[in-house]
Amino acid sequence: MGPPIHTVRVATCASILSGLFAMGAALAQPLGLPPVPVPANNPQTPEKIALGDKLFNDKRFSSTGEVSCATCHDPKKAFTDSPLVTSEGINKLTGTRNAPTVINSAYYKLFFWDGRSLDMEDQAQHPIVNPVEMGLVNHDPVLKIVRTDPDYVARFKKVFDKEGEQITMKEVQQAIASFERTIVSGDSPFDRWYYGGDEKAVNDQVKRGFNVFLTKGRCVSCHTMEQDYALFTDNRFHNIGVGVNRIQQEIPQFAPAFLTAKSAGTDVDKAVLTNPKVSELGRFAVTETLDEIGAFKTSTLRNVAVTAPFMHDGSLKTLRDVVEHYNNGGVTKKDDPVNDFLSGGIRPLNLTDDEISDLVAFMESLTSPQFAAQKAAAANPASCNVKTTTVANASPVTPASNSGSGGEGM
Ligand code: HEC
Ligand code: HEC
Repeated sequence: MGPPIHTVRVATCASILSGLFAMGAALAQPLGLPPVPVPANNPQTPEKIALGDKLFNDKRFSSTGEVSCATCHDPKKAFTDSPLVTSEGINKLTGTRNAPTVINSAYYKLFFWDGRSLDMEDQAQHPIVNPVEMGLVNHDPVLKIVRTDPDYVARFKKVFDKEGEQITMKEVQQAIASFERTIVSGDSPFDRWYYGGDEKAVNDQVKRGFNVFLTKGRCVSCHTMEQDYALFTDNRFHNIGVGVNRIQQEIPQFAPAFLTAKSAGTDVDKAVLTNPKVSELGRFAVTETLDEIGAFKTSTLRNVAVTAPFMHDGSLKTLRDVVEHYNNGGVTKKDDPVNDFLSGGIRPLNLTDDEISDLVAFMESLTSPQFAAQKAAAANPASCNVKTTTVANASPVTPASNSGSGGEGM
């Protein structure tokens, strides 16, 4: 029995590697996705992308030397830390939120579950100094490393033509964002059917599930699609009844108390990740708009089948749990009361058991090939270790026509 199994393992490893190569090398525009928006002031270059990859994986940027961006956005776990409910940073400290995948996050207009960061460049500075993530007191240790480590010195010189004190966090963040903009992945079975016209790419159950998604399930009203591509997010914020239900009673006292603390200088990034109640305030913590209490960013549904558990707090374990939550009208247990700030778009759906299964099958058809292969390999303990730095050697993903389509606050 030995040899055949061995053969299968080798094949699986090879397919992951080729998938990752394809992801970085050629995917200017994978099937089902638009071109990646790239800000005019941070154009993609192969050297900058490679530098960003190195920075993304550098554990020296944490207080313990044990945590990098890739710890929680692990390329081997579809750029998440699945199956953790909430992320673990330095010294195994846990934050309040589930790590979203970095795959296709370049298409978001605002970053983090509550949109508190305005672009990818800005986002990259925060985890480094968050006490439950990488735990540095300030960015000085990062700057010291990139200004003195010979390999970084050479790379920053080549990419930005800067050295010594000319190198600031701006360049570090730009390189990381450039790398993240290559982590783009479409071409799922659904894309090959719906956008590629291959009737055999998905089965009938997926097609039925897609119909539920569009009609009775009302999912597409927030997880939106376009004529030529689908991001499955409206880039907006909604209260769908997750997490906030837990602090419902306390909101009348707690929300104003948070605003007082905020005006006295409380750091929002630190507060939301360390204080579970502040976390549940959602978009309100950023905008201070009452009707955004408990509202979070609509997630993309791409690759959702390989990034469990779900929602900002990781509270729903399976895709079936998610659909049941929606089917109940925004509560996890059927007859629980809904929260006061629930989105008008959330109401009981009366889906049948078959419709629920179909909807789950549809979501499972949104997995890009390299991450499907990865999941198969993960289920096979003896499979090879994938060296994901292959992504870094990629040519720029952005066609010239694309530059400037992004820009600040795109
Ligand atoms: C300790 C785990 C951890 C580490 C380390 C970490 N992240 Fe994250 N990341 C998270 C969590 C949790 C969130 C969601 C936080 C929130 O929304 O409040 C997140 C959110 C993000 C997002 C936003 C995605 C979206 O959907 O809006 C990006 C991009 C990202 N991280 C990139 C990075 C980069 C770059 C680094 C390194 C500089 C990094 N992360 C380090 C856990 C981590
Ligand atoms: C009113 C807007 C809205 C509608 C309608 C909606 N969603 Fe969502 N969806 C969201 C938001 C917002 C989130 C993130 C909420 C959170 O984390 O608290 C989300 C999260 C999810 C997630 C979790 C993604 C992840 O990575 O954790 C899945 C899966 C999902 N929705 C599927 C569906 C399905 C299936 C339907 C239809 C039955 C649907 N959604 C209808 C807004 C919506």
